[in-house]
Amino acid sequence: MQTVSTVLDSISDVGRDASRGGYSRGVFTSAELSLRDWFVAEATARGLAVETDRNGIVWAWWDATDSRDGALVTGSHLDSVPGGGAFDGPLGVASALAAVDLLRERGVQPNRSLAVTVFPEEEGSRFGVSCLGSRLLTGSLDPDHVRSLTDTDGTTFADAARSAGIDVAHLGRDEEAARRIGDFVELHVEQGRGLIDLDSAVAIGSTMLGHGRWRLSVTGQGNHAGTTLMADRADPMVAAAQVVLAVRRIAAEQDGARATVGRLQPVPGGTNVIASRVDLWLDVRHEEDAVTAQLIERIHGQAQKICAFEGCRATLTEESRSSTVHFDGALQRTLHNALGRSFPGAPTLPTGAGHDAGILGSIAPTAMLFVRNPTGISHSPEEFVERDDADAGATALADVLEDLL
Ligand code: GLV
Ligand code: MN
Ligand code: MN
Repeated sequence: MQTVSTVLDSISDVGRDASRGGYSRGVFTSAELSLRDWFVAEATARGLAVETDRNGIVWAWWDATDSRDGALVTGSHLDSVPGGGAFDGPLGVASALAAVDLLRERGVQPNRSLAVTVFPEEEGSRFGVSCLGSRLLTGSLDPDHVRSLTDTDGTTFADAARSAGIDVAHLGRDEEAARRIGDFVELHVEQGRGLIDLDSAVAIGSTMLGHGRWRLSVTGQGNHAGTTLMADRADPMVAAAQVVLAVRRIAAEQDGARATVGRLQPVPGGTNVIASRVDLWLDVRHEEDAVTAQLIERIHGQAQKICAFEGCRATLTEESRSSTVHFDGALQRTLHNALGRSFPGAPTLPTGAGHDAGILGSIAPTAMLFVRNPTGISHSPEEFVERDDADAGATALADVLEDLL
């Protein structure tokens, strides 16, 4: 049997980003596609039956009965943020494979089928919408809208998915896949300091913070950096810089709010060119949707004021939104009981990050297990998991799956 770290070691060279550091494994890029191939090979080597569904989700089946309906499903994603860590996503996939090994070693005879899954575009790093695969499956996204989403090179989701072998005519709500998910359990690296502070290798997820993404386009007058007097400018970069500061101030004034501008794109983007437009992307999170809406309204209002003063214009577009998710109470109790053997008193932990388990909660009971990250840093090359903790996570996942099978 391979340890989780050994499984992860075999993909440690895939998608390394020499300029950003860490990994850039955008969905349907050669890096992510080679990780999908790796997953298919690992699953096939374990005798699991692999198929890719109409939304590009990969399923590896341990068929225990004639039916796949109501199966126990586990898994995560293999795509990353730009310059991300090695564990966000792959830890859940590798732990699921290791858990299958453990269950077999223990001689477990499942009473229902088990599937290990890989979800595409969980990060939304390439096409802007996070948890794209699970949102398509549950029918919360319009497939026409998804087909037309573009990456920064102008490639549409339709073209990228087609080149990955997906028939994009059939994207969208998948009744068959939805029927098959009896329960979903996702193991994930913890992305903050939660488990360091709790001094525990694993925790059970309680809630997933509501979050959304918006694009703010600031338009001004593109012009020459040398010939345009300072007084004659309508520079959207100057307006955008003030918007970034306003975002921080507005979020800091609201209890429990998090707001980030992590991406900003000047057009045309030349050193000696005053930009004609700057697009900036806002990630805003709060437990209550109404508060998120107020925060966005305040940010938009402030952006309009700033832009009017700078001779620019601001246009705000919502790109995605998810409400706070409370993971299924009964399933959480099952996890607590299952962990009672190896991890008595395993703590419960909320997450500020988004996950497919949150989206799938609209169609089935879902739960999460978190594994300690000793740096407390994520979405960065510094994200880390100790080998022993990774193995503890796989054991915890196997315990949970065993009880649920
Ligand atoms: C994904 O990790 C997110 O929280 O955006
Ligand atoms: Mn993730
Ligand atoms: Mn992530």
